Amino acid sequence: SRDILGIADLSAAEIKDLLQLAADLKSGKRSPVCNKILGLLFYKASTRTRVSFTVAMHQLGGQVIDLNPNVTQVGRGEPISDTARVLDRYIDILAVRTFKQTDLEEFARYAQIPIINALSDLEHPCQILADLLTIQECFGKVSGVTATFLGDGNNVAHSFILGGALMGMKIRVATPEAHQPEPAIVEKARQLAVDGAEIIITEDPVEAVKGSQVVYTDVWASMGQEASAESRIPMFQPYQVNEEILAHADSDAIVLHCLPAHRGEEITEAVIEGKQSRVWDEAENRMHVQKALLVSLLGIE
Ligand code: CP
Repeated sequence: SRDILGIADLSAAEIKDLLQLAADLKSGKRSPVCNKILGLLFYKASTRTRVSFTVAMHQLGGQVIDLNPNVTQVGRGEPISDTARVLDRYIDILAVRTFKQTDLEEFARYAQIPIINALSDLEHPCQILADLLTIQECFGKVSGVTATFLGDGNNVAHSFILGGALMGMKIRVATPEAHQPEPAIVEKARQLAVDGAEIIITEDPVEAVKGSQVVYTDVWASMGQEASAESRIPMFQPYQVNEEILAHADSDAIVLHCLPAHRGEEITEAVIEGKQSRVWDEAENRMHVQKALLVSLLGIE
């Protein structure tokens, strides 16, 4: 089966097709229907991913089953290998939110149905599809757009680097030295980068933001890192998206945040509620791109 465990499981051409399909679904130009069943197996809390997948599948005419580990045996220790081989007899596609990428890989190894990464420690591909659609809507293109990610070199940053490289963007990531993205991800992105793409990893937030058309941030402590949240704040403070740093970006730059936002930490109230913020469109686009992904992976006409 076709699994999307990371954004680079899609080719550049497939991402472009998905963005076009998402735009067509959003505008009503296409209204495919199906009678398929999506499972949501989320080991972590979620508002956007859970609700947008659910609404997308309902709008397609399909159904959704919540396979929360609190109410299924996988939460009580049933092996993933067994769970995957049972679920694929009942449902058509499974979105998994997990702490470990290796859990996703195990689901994909044993299940005969498509597995979608709904966020892992390594990547957040569905989020980056929504970000790319939002950038395309704002600038009429993705290729060649300069975009800076500020904060923690986390799962969202990883998918942002890989997706941006595939789409020919000029990607800059500014983080504290101890929180840079994984070198293996950066190396993979450099290998996948199409002509015109650039990837700069730096500790200097001001240099990174200069001339950027997109300024993107995310939480400083991801789920599972709550214990270190307080101690991280001073280290990450220079990377806060505030009016001062935004003044270094293009005057028509947009601000993205995958949400949930922590106002006063990675972003200020003035910026997230300001005229350059596109975070609500970005959140809405989660539904359109994930609907496109479901249509594509399930072959819905
Ligand atoms: N951005 C995102 O994945 O949001 P949720 O954690 O609410 O799904």
